Amino acid sequence: MGLLGSLAMLVPLTCLFWLPVLIMAQSTPMNGSARALDALLQDYAFRAFVVRPKTGIPYDGVVPSNLSGINITAMRLRSGSLRSKGVKMYKEFEIPIGVVEQPYVERLVLVYQNLGDWSKLYYPLPNYSYLAPVLGLLAYNASNLSATNLPELDFRAFGDPIKIKFSDVQSTPDGSVPMCVWFDLHGSVNFSNVTSGNECSTIQQGHFSIVTGSISPSGGGEEKKSHRKVGIIVGSVLGGLALLVLLAVLVLWARKCKQTKEMQEMEKAAEVGEALHMTSVGDTKAPSATVTRTQPTLESEYVP
Ligand SMILES: *[C@@H]1O[C@H](CO)[C@@H](O)[C@H](O)[C@H]1NC(C)=O
Ligand SMILES: *[C@@H]1O[C@H](CO)[C@@H](O)[C@H](O)[C@H]1NC(C)=O
Ligand SMILES: *[C@@H]1O[C@H](CO)[C@@H](O)[C@H](O)[C@H]1NC(C)=O
Ligand SMILES: *[C@@H]1O[C@H](CO)[C@@H](O)[C@H](O)[C@H]1NC(C)=O
Ligand SMILES: *[C@@H]1O[C@H](CO)[C@@H](O)[C@H](O)[C@H]1NC(C)=O
Ligand SMILES: *[C@@H]1O[C@H](CO)[C@@H](O)[C@H](O)[C@H]1NC(C)=O
Ligand SMILES: *[C@@H]1O[C@H](CO)[C@@H](O)[C@H](O)[C@H]1NC(C)=O
Ligand SMILES: *[C@@H]1O[C@H](CO)[C@@H](O)[C@H](O)[C@H]1NC(C)=O
Repeated sequence: MGLLGSLAMLVPLTCLFWLPVLIMAQSTPMNGSARALDALLQDYAFRAFVVRPKTGIPYDGVVPSNLSGINITAMRLRSGSLRSKGVKMYKEFEIPIGVVEQPYVERLVLVYQNLGDWSKLYYPLPNYSYLAPVLGLLAYNASNLSATNLPELDFRAFGDPIKIKFSDVQSTPDGSVPMCVWFDLHGSVNFSNVTSGNECSTIQQGHFSIVTGSISPSGGGEEKKSHRKVGIIVGSVLGGLALLVLLAVLVLWARKCKQTKEMQEMEKAAEVGEALHMTSVGDTKAPSATVTRTQPTLESEYVP
């Protein structure tokens, strides 16, 4: 009973122990999958190129249907032209003179991503809500336009920063301040001020958006979620306790049941047992004892 009882008690305890861990796992940033998405979008953006794509012309790509809502564009550039001329306007990005990639390639492809409604999923930011979609600007070697899994080229603006002019920024809820957010390719996040109402700037590649603090414009989605989490935790603690109490009652009941049964048997044995005992001593016990005693003597005789 001891082992079984403690095992039964352990079950709800282990459940309680794992529950918060499971909830945490759900809400941790999916930086691994964001990188996998970059690789997939590189592939699909490169497919937008015709046989001989012109340099400096944006080609819109088509994403697989399981990612519909994401927009991608690819533009091929000579790296010398990027450095000396920049790109006046590439979607929301204004690329000034003086942007240099590393390592050097003769031609590069700038892949533009607009994650639309997928922004929150791939770039979760607890306590913030997005006022604009996450936009990405990444550079790749253009030497092989059918290559996949290409590493990103690092690029930096050595003169003026690259400007991002977001075209559809939701209005900021009262009392909160919009912030530019930048995700680098290693998963780190940095915030900066929004300028001119809808502009952010960067000297590096990565993913960009405009966010605001905890008040969600769509009715406190994050807060509701955290309330629900608290609800789940409290509920499971109470549930676990109730289970423990139930188990304790069961264990006690089982023990009592066993005791009463034993007592009943003892009483029964006391009533009829004495006569039985006497007869068993009388004829069955004595011969069985002689059998067990003769065995060792037989064996010792066998050994010479
Ligand atoms: C996730 O981000 C961390 C830094 O925040 C980084 O060290 C780690 O390598 C990233 N993991 C993946 C799979 O990209
Ligand atoms: C979407 O579909 C593509 C191609 O069918 C597949 O490679 C990719 O893993 C899928 N991505 C997601 C997030 O489901
Ligand atoms: C993607 O492009 C289509 C067509 O140009 C446009 O209607 C849609 O709004 C774009 N999506 C996002 C998230 O910008
Ligand atoms: C979100 O805000 C809550 C309460 O202000 C805080 O305890 C928590 O650490 C914040 N989470 C993150 C990821 O910043
Ligand atoms: C770019 O790609 C070409 C062809 O695949 C390769 O020869 C070259 O080394 C690559 N350049 C860099 C810097 O990776
Ligand atoms: C370009 O990349 C594709 C896919 O990785 C590969 O099959 C092909 O051989 C490469 N071409 C050159 C010229 O490197
Ligand atoms: C974040 O931005 C601030 C201000 O631009 C800068 O001082 C800081 O070094 C940045 N942090 C990272 C990790 O890049
Ligand atoms: C952002 O704006 C605030 C107030 O407008 C100012 O105090 C702060 O220095 C600014 N931060 C940066 C990095 O420019």
